[in-house]
Amino acid sequence: MKKYWLLLALIFPLFASGQSRTIAERVDSVMNLMTLEEKIGQMNQYNGDKKATGPISINTDKEGQIKSGMVGSVLNVKTVFNTRKIQELAMQSRLKIPLLFGLDVIHGYRTIFPIPLAESCSWDMALMELAARIAAKEASASGTHWTFAPMVDIARDPRWGRIMEGAGEDTWYGSKVAAARVKGFQGTGLGNSDAVMACAKHFAAYGAAQGGRDYNTVDLSERELHEVYLPPFKAAVDANVATFMNAFNTLNGIPATGSAMLQRVYLKGKWHFGGFVVSDWESIGEMIPHGYAADKKEAALLAIKAGCDMDMQSRSYIDNLAQLVREGKVEENLINDAVRRILTKKFEMGLFDDPFRFCDPEREKSQWNNRENLYVARDVARKSAVLLKNSGNTLPIISKTNKIALIGPLVKSKFDNLGFWNISWPDDSLRIVSLWDGMANRVGKERLLYAKGCNIEGEDESGFEEAVSVARKADIVIVSVGEKFDMSGEGKCRSNLHLPGVQEKLVMELITTGKPVIVMISAGRPLIFNTIAEHAHAILYTWWLGTEAGNAMADILLGDYNPSGKLTVTFPRAEGQIPLNYNHLNTGRPDGEKAISGVNKIYKSNYLDISSLPLYPFGYGLSYTTFKYGELMLNTHKPAGNDTLEVSIDVTNTGQYQGEEIVQLYIRDIVASVARPVKELKGFSKVMLTPGETKRVKFMLSNEDLKFYDSNLNYIWEEGEFQVMVGPNSADLKSDKVVWCRSSAK
Ligand code: GLC
Repeated sequence: MKKYWLLLALIFPLFASGQSRTIAERVDSVMNLMTLEEKIGQMNQYNGDKKATGPISINTDKEGQIKSGMVGSVLNVKTVFNTRKIQELAMQSRLKIPLLFGLDVIHGYRTIFPIPLAESCSWDMALMELAARIAAKEASASGTHWTFAPMVDIARDPRWGRIMEGAGEDTWYGSKVAAARVKGFQGTGLGNSDAVMACAKHFAAYGAAQGGRDYNTVDLSERELHEVYLPPFKAAVDANVATFMNAFNTLNGIPATGSAMLQRVYLKGKWHFGGFVVSDWESIGEMIPHGYAADKKEAALLAIKAGCDMDMQSRSYIDNLAQLVREGKVEENLINDAVRRILTKKFEMGLFDDPFRFCDPEREKSQWNNRENLYVARDVARKSAVLLKNSGNTLPIISKTNKIALIGPLVKSKFDNLGFWNISWPDDSLRIVSLWDGMANRVGKERLLYAKGCNIEGEDESGFEEAVSVARKADIVIVSVGEKFDMSGEGKCRSNLHLPGVQEKLVMELITTGKPVIVMISAGRPLIFNTIAEHAHAILYTWWLGTEAGNAMADILLGDYNPSGKLTVTFPRAEGQIPLNYNHLNTGRPDGEKAISGVNKIYKSNYLDISSLPLYPFGYGLSYTTFKYGELMLNTHKPAGNDTLEVSIDVTNTGQYQGEEIVQLYIRDIVASVARPVKELKGFSKVMLTPGETKRVKFMLSNEDLKFYDSNLNYIWEEGEFQVMVGPNSADLKSDKVVWCRSSAK
């Protein structure tokens, strides 16, 4: 530590005076010493290596560039050991500017939490923030400075594999989750040794890829962009997110990486974002196949002009920017702005004071097998699972003696519980709790029977006979099916959302035994399982629940935890219904109501061959108990101007288990200058109720909650009639109406 101060003191005389200098002043003093090439070096990011142990296998070209100050950041390097080795290379450069180490700590580093889409079903902001906080503590203890998370893309298409990474289909809710996760990762502020820089990604509208195909074209109105896709990014800025990552897709014909509208006009202009923007993996170079740049030199020019500050792995900047500046095609002040942003974060992270402040082996060890973190992960997992069906109160399993058959390809799977963006370690097989482990931990192996039944993929049914035989010997059957960890995630899009392979057939074979069959579905996205939904006795959607998956599942199955999760994404009946989101417009011929012209169902916005309704709606989830909703109570039916509309409802636990209920508030703007959704989530409250207990849940609405983007992109509210709705999910709502005027004079 001391020797670096001396070195810096020698290079930067003013440091020696001990004057307290602002970060801006310190950045300027460094920049005044930098050559153009060294500045561009800060804008250059290389991939390292994800191996958890052993010397980093960064190739010599990169090592040489690091030593000469031509690299500003390295991603995909883990552990103190490896990050220190590379940072030491950077300390051999002329100016000894420390590197930033970035990594996809999407939902955990050493302790893996449920995938973000699962976590979002907990509707528990504090818990999601805590999960991110723990991930930051573990990652920062192992040399990571920067996570490429939260992914805040709104997604309404389960064919898109990256739906697993976000917070579902609702913009209002996704904005709250974005803020919670940024706060979790960054803690009380950069500079604390357990804070990592967060990164709002992928800017913007990546989730609107046509056909649900990753990297595909996005084309939507500016109004839809502002109404649906930008707000979670703005929420991240308001939560002081340190960095942004731009997106692979074109937006209205312009690659996001080369979009000045997104990066300079909106992000750095209107929103006054002070951090820096990193490209996505080689997305600068991808402007060539996009047909937007002829070569990497033009791609570099387009990207820097658009406001992309750092080049992830494409080498477009390091190979071309200096020449572009010397040719007068790129103004050096664009380079200076980008470098100033990057150096500012390095100073804020304390890396200039001590480049190795995140390389403390003792701290790494303290976070390495942290039992408390595992307990939190188990709690998050319990609260992320969603009970979709429980006919005849099949669940929870109350008997202490009955034989339980655990059947299916995911029963003993460990790694699949970590999901696509897992950070794997050699000892994972010892740490990850499978469903089998979790149940054996609780009831003992002697009560358990097992059969794999089939593989996740493939048409082999040879295991069915054994599975049925095992089921017949049991009192209750739990069948665990779903996706492998890499069937959802980046580049993992599917046109067919049914259970892969012959898993659905296996489930139906087991149901024919007449035993109570509980279906556990683990996946990174909504799947389609209409037949199972009709015939299974109980269905628990367990997404990918992370390191503690099996313990959390056992807690739920055995009644130690009463499931409270609710869906943050709509479950379709068929791929042909997609996009299918709850907050759709009414159309001129809404399905399910008598059309204005009185014609019958055929001439409505629906399908001839299937209902236009989802299998499970947004906000849906069951409990082991039941809840009764009283009548909606409003403090007025004529709010005016800046009045507060109080909306209350009594919720009673009418069952025999204590349980949490997520009470949801929606509105509808009946008539407006642009057609408005049939409902919009504007509030929720998670209440714990003991059997027989009633609580009055109260929401406060203001005209801020009524705002939308009009056809001129003004963010306004308009007076008129509004529906106010409260209920357990987006389809089962108590409703009332108010007329909200500008002034009460009317
Ligand atoms: C990937 C992803 C991005 C990730 C980055 C680094 O392609 O699109 O989300 O952070 O590259 O791994």
